[in-house]
Amino acid sequence: MNFLKGLLNFLVLQHLLLQLCSSLDTIKFDQPVGDGDFLVSKNETFVLGFFSPGTSTNRYVGIWYKFSEDLVVWVANRDNPINGRSGVLSIGSDGNLVLQANTSQGLVPLWSTNVSISSASNGNISAQILDSGSLVLAQQGSQDVFWQSTDHPTNILLSNMKIGLDRRSGINRFLTCWNSDNDPGTGNVSLRMEPNGSPQLILYKDDAKWWRSGQWNGIQWGGIPAVQRNVVFKINFVNNQDEIAVQWTVLDPSIYSVITIDGSGTLNQLSWQDQQHQWVSLWSAPLDACDSYGKCGQFGNCNPYTNSGFNCTCYPGYEPTSPQDWDLRDGTDGCKRPQDSLSMCRNGEGFVKMKNVKVPDTSSIKLENNLSIVACEEECLKNCSCLAYASADVRNGGTGCMTWYRDLMDTKQFTEGGQDLYIRVDAVVLAQYKNKSGGGYFSGRRRLAIILVVSISVASLLILAVLYWFRKRSRKGRGGEPRFLKDPAASGVRSYEDLPIKNEVDEHRGDTDLPFFDLTTVVAATENFSSANKLGHGGFGTVYKGCLADGQDIAVKRLSRNSGQGVDEFKNEVMLIAKLQHRNLVRLLGWCIHKEERMLIYEYMPNRSLDLCIFDKNRKSLLDWRKRFQIIIGIARGVLYLHQDSRLKIIHRDLKASNVLLDGSMNPKISDFGMARMFRDDQIEANTNRVVGTYGYMSPEYAMDGLYSTKSDVFSFGVLALEIISGRKNSFQFENTSLNLVGLIWDLWTEGKVLDIIDSSLNQSYSTHEVMRCIQIGLLCVQENATDRPTMLDVVFMLGNETNLPHPKKAAFSFKTGGPDSSMSRGASSVNDITVTVIEAR
Ligand SMILES: *[C@@H]1O[C@H](CO)[C@@H](O)[C@H](O)[C@H]1NC(C)=O
Ligand SMILES: *[C@@H]1O[C@H](CO)[C@@H](O)[C@H](O)[C@H]1NC(C)=O
Ligand SMILES: *[C@@H]1O[C@H](CO)[C@@H](O)[C@H](O)[C@H]1NC(C)=O
Ligand SMILES: *[C@@H]1O[C@H](CO)[C@@H](O)[C@H](O)[C@H]1NC(C)=O
Ligand SMILES: *[C@@H]1O[C@H](CO)[C@@H](O)[C@H](O)[C@H]1NC(C)=O
Ligand SMILES: *[C@@H]1O[C@H](CO)[C@@H](O)[C@H](O)[C@H]1NC(C)=O
Ligand SMILES: *[C@@H]1O[C@H](CO)[C@@H](O)[C@H](O)[C@H]1NC(C)=O
Ligand SMILES: *[C@@H]1O[C@H](CO)[C@@H](O)[C@H](O)[C@H]1NC(C)=O
Ligand SMILES: *[C@@H]1O[C@H](CO)[C@@H](O)[C@H](O)[C@H]1NC(C)=O
Repeated sequence: MNFLKGLLNFLVLQHLLLQLCSSLDTIKFDQPVGDGDFLVSKNETFVLGFFSPGTSTNRYVGIWYKFSEDLVVWVANRDNPINGRSGVLSIGSDGNLVLQANTSQGLVPLWSTNVSISSASNGNISAQILDSGSLVLAQQGSQDVFWQSTDHPTNILLSNMKIGLDRRSGINRFLTCWNSDNDPGTGNVSLRMEPNGSPQLILYKDDAKWWRSGQWNGIQWGGIPAVQRNVVFKINFVNNQDEIAVQWTVLDPSIYSVITIDGSGTLNQLSWQDQQHQWVSLWSAPLDACDSYGKCGQFGNCNPYTNSGFNCTCYPGYEPTSPQDWDLRDGTDGCKRPQDSLSMCRNGEGFVKMKNVKVPDTSSIKLENNLSIVACEEECLKNCSCLAYASADVRNGGTGCMTWYRDLMDTKQFTEGGQDLYIRVDAVVLAQYKNKSGGGYFSGRRRLAIILVVSISVASLLILAVLYWFRKRSRKGRGGEPRFLKDPAASGVRSYEDLPIKNEVDEHRGDTDLPFFDLTTVVAATENFSSANKLGHGGFGTVYKGCLADGQDIAVKRLSRNSGQGVDEFKNEVMLIAKLQHRNLVRLLGWCIHKEERMLIYEYMPNRSLDLCIFDKNRKSLLDWRKRFQIIIGIARGVLYLHQDSRLKIIHRDLKASNVLLDGSMNPKISDFGMARMFRDDQIEANTNRVVGTYGYMSPEYAMDGLYSTKSDVFSFGVLALEIISGRKNSFQFENTSLNLVGLIWDLWTEGKVLDIIDSSLNQSYSTHEVMRCIQIGLLCVQENATDRPTMLDVVFMLGNETNLPHPKKAAFSFKTGGPDSSMSRGASSVNDITVTVIEAR
């Protein structure tokens, strides 16, 4: 009896509690909230309550995600902590929400919403926590909002929140960082909308500009071309008489994504990954050296992709203000016009175009939205103090007019994205640039000097060559032979002991922290490049297994001779690649250079390459679905890092199963990622005469037109993902069909029978839903039209979250049969695993 009564009591109590909990998202006049109480939003997304950050014992009122207490998205009393658990949050007699500490001296106010509320509505006011993460003070049953927390952000911007000025209410919303992880107090880094000129977001450290988003160019922020509307979010910019504000909106409400800033001056977009139960960074700023404000000073252009390590160049017609600092690689003093330059006022002056740049700070420009680019040039030419102009809006070939008169600060060079900037130059510079393509870059006396220098150099070279020829002949006569390193595989056993390695090595060892390996060490480790140690052969060279004296296994990539790269170029390149570190990229351990020989030393991957696993009847079963899924995600992360997170922005160009290596725990590591850079051809043009890649993985626009972009890698990734799922090579010609794997999967997909393609060795060990999603993502990546394909960021996102996926359009698989280039025909495509080079007639 007692037991039943107890049970009944318990059930009643629990019912009451549940009711209480589910209804508690509101603070009413007669319902204050104390420390230990929580408000939970309707859908249980956000919680409001008292908390202590990090190791602090102070109490604060804040809002956080229910599933992730660690990310506090808003703090009320950030600069007035409560000492102890005496805090009470209530609606005051004037209708405002107040936070008080209940002390022995009575109630001490610490924080208040502090808005004026007409006494007529006082009695009915309540504060509610919404599923959008906003705490809203409003009259019950009325739409009138007196105050909302999203108008007073702390360090986090949630989806749909705004940064910027509301011209009606005068509220200016901006983010400020926390003082530290243990103190949410107002820090000295802030992210604000700069409304003057053409609006931009600016990250400040105290009052100094630290990073600039670039102006809103109609589509996106000019300084972060990688960040634009995608499947995850859209950016909405408004500039009218009511407000000037920007809003990030996450398109799918089941995705949680926030923008944060921290005390080091970093802006980060985080996204919640259900799978790993953690927040991961989607992108961040500043990203590279050129993102720090004013890195190259006035009239200086910062290029992060130089090989020399110094990033600054002067605008056309300008020279370094302080050549000494410039030599010391400090560009912050910027550039000036040379003393002896001509007047730029009605004296034959004109404009020189700088392509693909983040235009300089737009806060003190003159903006005219109604002018065309042609009218803009006239406008700038008319006013002698106008120094540069550019379109305000890049849509429709460029509209609107921005003109600069001073402060041309913070210009950055992109390889793709950015916009054109027109610099005013005097008649002489103009002529130089006009004649540049004709070869007559320099004029007058300077040109004469150059011709002289060139002729003298050529003559000297000729003389030297003749002398050398004579010397060589006489040596041959004496039986002496010039000593150079031969291919050991060709020359058989050969001792390297007597070769003059030492001097050359010391010369190139330089100031780097990446270990340099002596040729003798490498030769010993690989047993003189014995064929027994050969691991594989690719387009960029041969790979050997090696073992160092201390027992560490290494893989040595011996690069093909025809790289055409000089020693310094090679060294710079290696140093850049050494800086790329990601858990899904193979790690570079060191390098070796000797005469024509260039070698890279990598960590050794015991499980070799992915193709040896997924295409092999016996080894296939080593990889169950879970492992394969992890491999797909890992590859996606590695490629994303190359495209976006790394400092270099690398397009791999040869992503395929044999370039994905597996470590001891079958984690995927992409290899050959730096080769794309080392062997670059006209990189700036983003299109090439020399198509490097592997049939079956090449996107149609790349294979046929030589056009490559990050979307070509996305294509290869898609093929790879489909191969991993099906356990078959894309080149395989299936019986009775003229289709490759992608074509076959596309056909099965349209017929609704795509599950037939799943690798039978997976033995039903998979979730059908998950595999279907992966196939769909793979098909999205291999769509015919590059712009339809998702970015790598989208891919990582779609793999990590249960979002709605778009429907794939037709996959690109038919280009093989109808390509304009005969070498792309089906006959040639059976050459699969070898990287081929196609010389395109363009
Ligand atoms: C709350 O949940 C319901 C049902 O799950 C959903 O339809 C609604 O969109 C959600 N609202 C918000 C703001 O997330
Ligand atoms: C303040 O504390 C006293 C004693 O602990 C308590 O009686 C009183 O109700 C508290 N006031 C509020 C507003 O919570
Ligand atoms: C409330 O606002 C007024 C001005 O609107 C200001 O003078 C006062 O200091 C504010 N009070 C608090 C507690 O913030
Ligand atoms: C509260 O609101 C209700 C309906 O909105 C209204 O009838 C009532 O007069 C209000 N009470 C006070 C004290 O303002
Ligand atoms: C920011 O504030 C911290 C302490 O609050 C201080 O140590 C630091 O120097 C400040 N940063 C700048 C750039 O003034
Ligand atoms: C030039 O830019 C690169 C890439 O951001 C950076 O690693 C390097 O340190 C910069 N050089 C200087 C001198 O700042
Ligand atoms: C801009 O041009 C449009 C159409 O050409 C015109 O309607 C509008 O009045 C112009 N605005 C200004 C400020 O000149
Ligand atoms: C040139 O433009 C500047 C800045 O807008 C302005 O102050 C100045 O009056 C203009 N000069 C002429 C001659 O129009
Ligand atoms: C530029 O080239 C044109 C013809 O190609 C020539 O007439 C002119 O003198 C050149 N100007 C300079 C400054 O070299």
